[in-house]
Amino acid sequence: MIKIAPSILSADFAALGHDIARVEAGGADQLHVDVMDGRFVPNITIGPVVVAAIRKRTRLPLDVHLMIVEPERYIPEFVAAGADMVTVHAEACPHLQRTLAQIRELGARGGVALNPSTPPDALEYVLDDLDLVLVMSVNPGFGGQAFIPSTHRKIRDIRALLGDRHRRVDVSVDGGVKADLAKALANDGASTLVAGSAIFGAADPAAAVRAIRDAATAR
Ligand code: DX5
Ligand code: ZN
Repeated sequence: MIKIAPSILSADFAALGHDIARVEAGGADQLHVDVMDGRFVPNITIGPVVVAAIRKRTRLPLDVHLMIVEPERYIPEFVAAGADMVTVHAEACPHLQRTLAQIRELGARGGVALNPSTPPDALEYVLDDLDLVLVMSVNPGFGGQAFIPSTHRKIRDIRALLGDRHRRVDVSVDGGVKADLAKALANDGASTLVAGSAIFGAADPAAAVRAIRDAATAR
């Protein structure tokens, strides 16, 4: 079963509770929350207070994507605010194994995000320490960018690296995901599709969630 994770980056931040209710009604499986610091990526978004506010409005699992340097400084605050999953970037973590252990010790699920140019090998020695891999299909920082086609091969390579022993690890794809890519991404081995502009940019975000799921599961 493929999971659909609307990215609130493309929601209306002045009407966030309303937008979240719409995707919840559409059957979203989890919410993807993009945290940016203006250092790891050239954009600034939100912090733990917003995650805590979202936590009060929804029962959906919160998948917090940290696009920040030194994420280990802020992970406890994000988990305390209600993050169920915390994903850090391999490129931002010189002590990646320690950072993943920190996330699990706090009771959350730990994920590693890879920029488009970062090879899957970065994961090889932390396979026992992670619960999800977030494959970036755009260079992180902004919503609404075009999907990078080499992502297809990368998802297949990551699935091969995970093998049977780590088949429960979630492989999530983030950036430029639209309904017309959903089937191919599911076939590549993706288990979660993150989509921002394709969902919140649509006139009916609930219908957009259903359209992505239908496309992913179509025969
Ligand atoms: C990009 C973010 C994504 C973004 C995806 O840096 O990590 O989660 O919101 O937005 P779309 O689906 O519009 O590419
Ligand atoms: Zn993201």
